[in-house]
Amino acid sequence: MRVLSGTQPSGRLHIGNYFGAIRQYIRLQDDGNECFYFIPNYHALTSMTDSAELERITRHVATAYLALGADPDRSVLFCQSDVPEVTELCWILNCVCPVSLMDKATSYKDKVARGLPASVGLFDYPVLQAADILIYDSNLVPVGADQKQHIEIARDLAGKFNRRAGDDVLVLPEPYIVPEVAVVPGIDGQKMSKSYDNTLEIFATDKQTTKTCARIVTDSTPLDEPKDPEACNVFALLKLFADDDEIDAIAAQYRAGGFGYGQAKKRLAELMNAFFADARAKYAELDKHPDTVRDILADGGRKARRVAQDTMHRVRAACGILRHEP
Ligand code: ADP
Ligand code: TRP
Repeated sequence: MRVLSGTQPSGRLHIGNYFGAIRQYIRLQDDGNECFYFIPNYHALTSMTDSAELERITRHVATAYLALGADPDRSVLFCQSDVPEVTELCWILNCVCPVSLMDKATSYKDKVARGLPASVGLFDYPVLQAADILIYDSNLVPVGADQKQHIEIARDLAGKFNRRAGDDVLVLPEPYIVPEVAVVPGIDGQKMSKSYDNTLEIFATDKQTTKTCARIVTDSTPLDEPKDPEACNVFALLKLFADDDEIDAIAAQYRAGGFGYGQAKKRLAELMNAFFADARAKYAELDKHPDTVRDILADGGRKARRVAQDTMHRVRAACGILRHEP
């Protein structure tokens, strides 16, 4: 099975990115699939204007993939911009994509409502994402629930292209979404997102994590009163880290009363710091060797580009686009 996914370098990675997507990247790799994981830096241009920050976060995401278990000997790890063919495929897909399909895409409207500039690039974001997926003949795309519509658009565009070409030139991808972690809540109870300033960062220090956990929004039920665990944000996050026995015990403490949100937050920070301790140590080590990370991306970029070039030969031939060089 060919697996492909990427996480935008638009901010430091958080536990929503991990549980919603990156953990599945690693599991699918460990299950022996042929995996392509990349850093969609062209996509990040739709929201980022500071070039130094984009470079820094691109390196952060690459280092994070490696620290969290992506293995360059088994997965192709690369940067979107090292495969410029993807923007060519995006153009060709633009020409089969009805404007009405983009009008139905919700992320453009949401992002503009949140204050992002209403650029043509932002409007076209799902088509570039479709090109990312289709250029590598991907079968499976591990993502969080918010990306489901984008994978459906990629399927739609592949189908439209194939019908026009009268041949199965492009592979139709499927989303891979794990329902229990499809939407991880942020510390304010909305979906956790880099753009909402409500994240628990994976690669924070233990102290920062404890401080952020203390800021998780809860209701004002007094300490001795019984509380409903299922209505509590801290409990939802605890479920990501604690084992079943501990979750049952904490739920009972909530219901019994006499258990404060402060205690739950403290336990959450302890569990999260223990959970990411190895990855944080590996990140710190890799961060001292930026050349190693750069070489891994360069090598991955070469491998990914070869696959993309093969697809583009088929795509150009299918739509009559000539190239007058070997
Ligand atoms: P963000 O919303 O923080 O900018 P991205 O859009 O870059 O995150 O998402 C990267 C990956 O992480 C995507 O597959 C996305 O679906 C997943 N993801 C992001 N936030 C969450 C969340 N709160 N819960 C589950 N998955 C998430
Ligand atoms: N839109 C994805 C996100 O917000 C990033 C992305 C770009 C992506 N191209 C992709 C994800 C292709 C999966 C497959 O994180």
